[in-house]
Amino acid sequence: MEKLMVRGGRPLRGSVQISGAKNSAVALLPASILAESPVTLDNLPHLSDVAVYSDILQELGGSVTWNGETIVIDPSDMKSIPMPNGKVKLLRASYYLMGAMLGRFGEATIGLPGGCNFEPRPIDQHIKGFEALGAVVSNDHGSVRIVAKELRGAKIYLDVVSVGATINIMLAASKAKGSTVIENAAKEPEIIDVATLLNSMGAKIKGAGTETIRIEGVDSLHGCRHSIIPDRIQAATYMIAAAATRGDVLIDSVIPKHLEAVTAKLQEMGVHVYEMDEAIRIVGQPLYEAIDVKALVYPGFATDMQSPMTSLLTQTNGVSILTDYVYSNRFKHIPELTRMGARIRVEGRSAIVEGGPLTAAKVRAADLRAGAALVVAALTVPEGVTEIGGAEYIDRGYDHLVDNLRLLGAEVWRETE
Ligand code: EPZ
Repeated sequence: MEKLMVRGGRPLRGSVQISGAKNSAVALLPASILAESPVTLDNLPHLSDVAVYSDILQELGGSVTWNGETIVIDPSDMKSIPMPNGKVKLLRASYYLMGAMLGRFGEATIGLPGGCNFEPRPIDQHIKGFEALGAVVSNDHGSVRIVAKELRGAKIYLDVVSVGATINIMLAASKAKGSTVIENAAKEPEIIDVATLLNSMGAKIKGAGTETIRIEGVDSLHGCRHSIIPDRIQAATYMIAAAATRGDVLIDSVIPKHLEAVTAKLQEMGVHVYEMDEAIRIVGQPLYEAIDVKALVYPGFATDMQSPMTSLLTQTNGVSILTDYVYSNRFKHIPELTRMGARIRVEGRSAIVEGGPLTAAKVRAADLRAGAALVVAALTVPEGVTEIGGAEYIDRGYDHLVDNLRLLGAEVWRETE
């Protein structure tokens, strides 16, 4: 167990290179199961969730070779092995094994996913999709068992807009007989990334990135090479940290379009934001206006950026209201921020944040983005050292965070807890 130690108060200055997207990587890795020849993924982030997924693919009989940010997965010898326990319990995105194994083998037995459990995260829409495609889903001693003699295309309306369900249905439907239509699909950039990989593997998917996705099933999929999109949540976290420390940072290798909601909110507060082709420069200002933020599905302000944004809102001169319409209670960072002197109260699905200085404290990350929020908060504190326990949560989603922050001039280091 490790903790992050932060002596804040220094404006971040310089440039930071953003890695490939975690939430794409953890879907693209299992998507490779569907191929019958090697899949090469470039721009893979160095994250614990990615390492765990790579181990899972090897447990299934795949051969995995790493070379820097590139991974080659040869899925040809993979077998349909039940995965009730073990590594699947370590990450939420193990649910993508369900769609991928169902598509390749016609069956999957997967332990209920673990990961960042900031609140109950049901998978009923995934199951609804598999059943619509003709699969029989049952509970097998706490694992989800899914079996289909033959997957048949279907029209599936998602009752809630779900990233995971949209991707999982795309994975299985790529190998179904006939056409599938997903209505009320999620539109996140990671969905387009997965559809792009699957199409390069020979799938026939149209409409990814819109609310209607059409999939014409094919008999077989083959290997290909694909480069993962930049991680918009890591990028947004550095944007927010740069603003919070009144710094001047170039956030490089990003797709600025994916960050429009954050850019707009930062500008509304008074942060200077300059968009370039593949980079964004943030120039912090001494005073910020309080604003209201609503976390929504894409292209709205992402729920994953909500927690770091809460920390930035403590740096305004008024009262801001941040409401999360995706998760009703994703507020595990708030008691910890309160320990640091923040004046925040939660009302229903809103956090009401009164601006004011923060102080150093001993705090704990309860999940990945709660951890990112504490890092942003700690970077603003001019005196003392903030100790952030639970660094392993932060490692799930931030590639080389300590190195990157140090390059930007921050005083950050790791210690064993
Ligand atoms: C993805 O989770 C991301 N994870 C999450 O990132 C992110 O917070 C979330 O999308 C929302 O953007 C990955 O991509 C691996 P959802 P996912 O299904 O797909 C409800 C991070 O910090 N719902 O889009 O699991 C659900 O409870 C993380 O990087 C159902 O009711 O989220 C939520 O309120 C954590 N039934 C909403 O829909 C379902 O079957 C959106 O969830 C599925 C979801």
